[in-house]
Amino acid sequence: MSRWVPSTRMGCSGLSRHAVRNCRRTTRVRGPATISVTGYSSGVRNWSSSRPDSATRPTKATDESGSSRIQEPSSSVASLLGTVFSAPARVASAASEAFARSTGAERSGISGSKAFSDPLSCVAAEMTNLTNNIRNLLGSAHPNLDTAAKYYVQSQGKHIRPLLVLLMSQAVLGAPKSDSYEQKYNVDESISPLDILRDFNPANIMSTIATTVSQSPTTTTKLQTVEEETGILPSQRRLAEITEMIHAASLLHDDVIDDAELRRGSLSGNSAFGNKMAILAGDFLLGRASVALARLRNAEVTELISTVIANLVEGEVMQLKNTAPEDAVTGVATPATFDYYLEKTYLKTASLISKSCRSAAVLAGAREDIVDSAYQYGRNLGMAFQLVDDLLDYTVTESDLGKPAGADLQLGLATAPALFAWKQHPELGPMIRRKFSQPGDVEKSRQLVTESDGVEKTRQLAKDYCDQARDAIADFPDSTAKVALIDMTVTVLNRNK
Ligand code: FPP
Ligand code: MG
Repeated sequence: MSRWVPSTRMGCSGLSRHAVRNCRRTTRVRGPATISVTGYSSGVRNWSSSRPDSATRPTKATDESGSSRIQEPSSSVASLLGTVFSAPARVASAASEAFARSTGAERSGISGSKAFSDPLSCVAAEMTNLTNNIRNLLGSAHPNLDTAAKYYVQSQGKHIRPLLVLLMSQAVLGAPKSDSYEQKYNVDESISPLDILRDFNPANIMSTIATTVSQSPTTTTKLQTVEEETGILPSQRRLAEITEMIHAASLLHDDVIDDAELRRGSLSGNSAFGNKMAILAGDFLLGRASVALARLRNAEVTELISTVIANLVEGEVMQLKNTAPEDAVTGVATPATFDYYLEKTYLKTASLISKSCRSAAVLAGAREDIVDSAYQYGRNLGMAFQLVDDLLDYTVTESDLGKPAGADLQLGLATAPALFAWKQHPELGPMIRRKFSQPGDVEKSRQLVTESDGVEKTRQLAKDYCDQARDAIADFPDSTAKVALIDMTVTVLNRNK
């Protein structure tokens, strides 16, 4: 069932002609799809780490509708070490509730106060400052560019990437350090002379920050030392900001590629500013993120995060080409079909999360095994995050998603729910191969997917990854941040937007 409603979340004033035209368009809203449940268990061999049993592993339950749902870890926050770093209670609770709302987790049956408020309070103050800090890194003397570059940064995103970096930073604080760790520098201080960086563009290169630093070279407040209240290094805070800048850049570009009209319930960047400006704004974000990355003065982190940018592009190209192989005899999906999809999923989504979690541990000077555990956590959680994204496309309405539901089939994309369904319904094969391009393909395929157990198998696969994410950090010292990281595996699985 579908109905046509006007897009009402944002007024049309103050936007370009292109934006106003799009703002007046109507958008399509579809009803939720049915989920069928089976006890399928899928292999995740290519992306799994070893998986020791864990006392805190969430248990599977069945809700009233019969869908399997993952319950929160049994260990309560209070039974662990308690709050390591305190944040003002009002700020903490506001930030935690905002995150719970942005993921829809409260409506998934996990109470915001129990599952989120306490653990997330350890980074609440940091998260409150995130958007403003990024804005300070993005200023441009060119007003159009300034507005477009900040557009996605200040919209109501989940901010899951910076949140994970901050939590991981705290979680590795008490973990063993590598022998060679000793660094003191200022992440706001330029490496090259400022007059070189600003030649012909005096307002550029994070001018406010750079000027402050260059005028007060003796300041010690911004040196690379752990903040007493939060346990976060300035470099880790900056890393969190960099991850969100790269993510925002990728979304600006992605929305051009997908010809998207909406993002987060408002006009997409391309709808608001046009394709050219959206692309350039994304490029500008990448440029400023690169400057900030250089100022971390850590070659290993620069290598990791630069690789992420290349990975994002590779993942997007794999998605465009969609050359997932199929069985030559039966014509249905094979393990190789899934491998292609999983590799694309890693490159497109999990790479940023895994390599930024790893970078947070590198910046902490953590021992190599801790650095690798941080990476494994991010890699597995990132895979789960995208799998859930792909199933929500079949199960959630546009008003919950803040962007059109059912978009993947329209874009010609066969994600996990369709690939699982393909095994049960070989007739999906030809439609997948022609990217659902013939009249009726999208509707027929959607029906076959929802009649199959593709959505539930996808959820089970996501749960497997979440289990492995949790196991990866099992040996970390107990802390509130560790509890929050464990809770994140539940939130990611149960989110409904
Ligand atoms: C959202 O995917 C998009 C991504 C996760 C990555 C997109 C990457 C590029 C466009 C490559 C360029 C990268 C940079 C850094 C400029 P989606 O379309 O599945 O999700 P959506 O429904 O939210 O749009
Ligand atoms: Mg998209």
